[in-house]
Amino acid sequence: MSIHQTCNSLIETLRHRRQKLATRIDFPVILWSGTSIPRNYPANVFPFRASSHFLYFAGLPLVNAAIRLEAGKLELFIDDPAPSSALWHGEMPNREYIATQIGADVAHPMAELESYLEGVATIPVQDPATWTQQSQLLNRWILPRHQLQGIDLELAQAIIELRLTHDQQALAELRTAAAVSVEAHKAGMAATPSAKIEAEVRAAMEKVILAQNMTTAYHSIVTVHGEVLHNEQYHHSIQPGDLLLADVGAETEMGWASDVTRTWPVSGKFSSTQRDIYDVVLAAHDACIAQVRPGVEYQDIHLLACTVIAQGLVDLGILQGDAENLVERNAHSLFFPHGIGHLLGLDVHDMEDLGDLAGYEPGRERSDRFGLSYLRLNRPLQPGMLVTIEPGFYQVPAIINNQEVRSTYQYTVNWERLSQFADVRGIRIEDDVLVTENGREVLTEALPTDANTVEELVCS
Ligand code: GLY
Ligand code: MN
Ligand code: MN
Repeated sequence: MSIHQTCNSLIETLRHRRQKLATRIDFPVILWSGTSIPRNYPANVFPFRASSHFLYFAGLPLVNAAIRLEAGKLELFIDDPAPSSALWHGEMPNREYIATQIGADVAHPMAELESYLEGVATIPVQDPATWTQQSQLLNRWILPRHQLQGIDLELAQAIIELRLTHDQQALAELRTAAAVSVEAHKAGMAATPSAKIEAEVRAAMEKVILAQNMTTAYHSIVTVHGEVLHNEQYHHSIQPGDLLLADVGAETEMGWASDVTRTWPVSGKFSSTQRDIYDVVLAAHDACIAQVRPGVEYQDIHLLACTVIAQGLVDLGILQGDAENLVERNAHSLFFPHGIGHLLGLDVHDMEDLGDLAGYEPGRERSDRFGLSYLRLNRPLQPGMLVTIEPGFYQVPAIINNQEVRSTYQYTVNWERLSQFADVRGIRIEDDVLVTENGREVLTEALPTDANTVEELVCS
């Protein structure tokens, strides 16, 4: 769907969203979309991405726009394209047309915004130019994340209540993003045997996303160094004995994200050590997904992953001791240092621009315990929430070669046995899981996880 083709159901959804907001707050709101950020000179900009809070209520990725919401009404502020812009950018829709497309009650030029600022709340936009403009216009500092105050904080909490669970329009978009990511991963697996470097596999995957006129929801990770958690290098050569970790997710034109990881053997065949560890990560993945249902604490799902991984590593002779005790002593986090996942929606880490306000139930704070400190979501699950489940195993040199770690876990890790698994640098398996009324639905289920089928896909 593009700006030329919005439909009545989207307009209805947008109306419904702002009516729900109006039941939670009794003050007006202005949300800015943001502006393009210059790349190397002003006319050469990074691809524009509208603020997610704006997108949620305005539906379209409009540049340099704002919306005012009050008592269920929508007012649009945007300038008509300058006459000269048709030469460089083609004919663009005018203000009145856009207003009709999003079901706005009124539309104004941007300059009129100044007359509508009395008592409004807002949320800071990510680009510095708009953020500064917000603060100047409202004559107060609009503070980011956990520093939000007063009506801005109340607004953030109201929006979080809405965006924590997804309506049907959002789910249709999220399903589309997930389906395209599934195809991208299959293309990546098939492209691997003939690829010489990581960049070729990345290109095969992103081609599928770009061909749908979508973008990636975050920088793709396509690497033989999966132990670098957010690796953004693609120059390494890929060799038959390597594992390739690909964390690649599509984002729809309307901004809805997916977040998918698979790890596969470059040769099309896991070595026995790779397969052993892969099956431990898969056991954690499957056990965690089976626990997803309303009322379950997401932190408990994280701790379940830790225990399954610890038990698997005990069974392989890498860790020594009782799994639950090992988790209490953080031994699992030497190999699984991050959280089991996060919220997913318009942002890949949904609403992380608000710090932990969205991810953490009010009254809860991040633990300072290694491993738990990277848990991005700590709430009971509710129907309509979309979360990722993404356990992993990594041999991060900075952790496992650290002398303090080595001495603390001298008798907990069988270091000699671990050295036999040197061909396993990083494995992650990540799916997008919707909490339903009775359990769960894995939106990315069409992408196989079992080792044999993954091998077949690489060889296809
Ligand atoms: N793709 C980033 C993440 O999995 O959190
Ligand atoms: Mn993720
Ligand atoms: Mn991911």
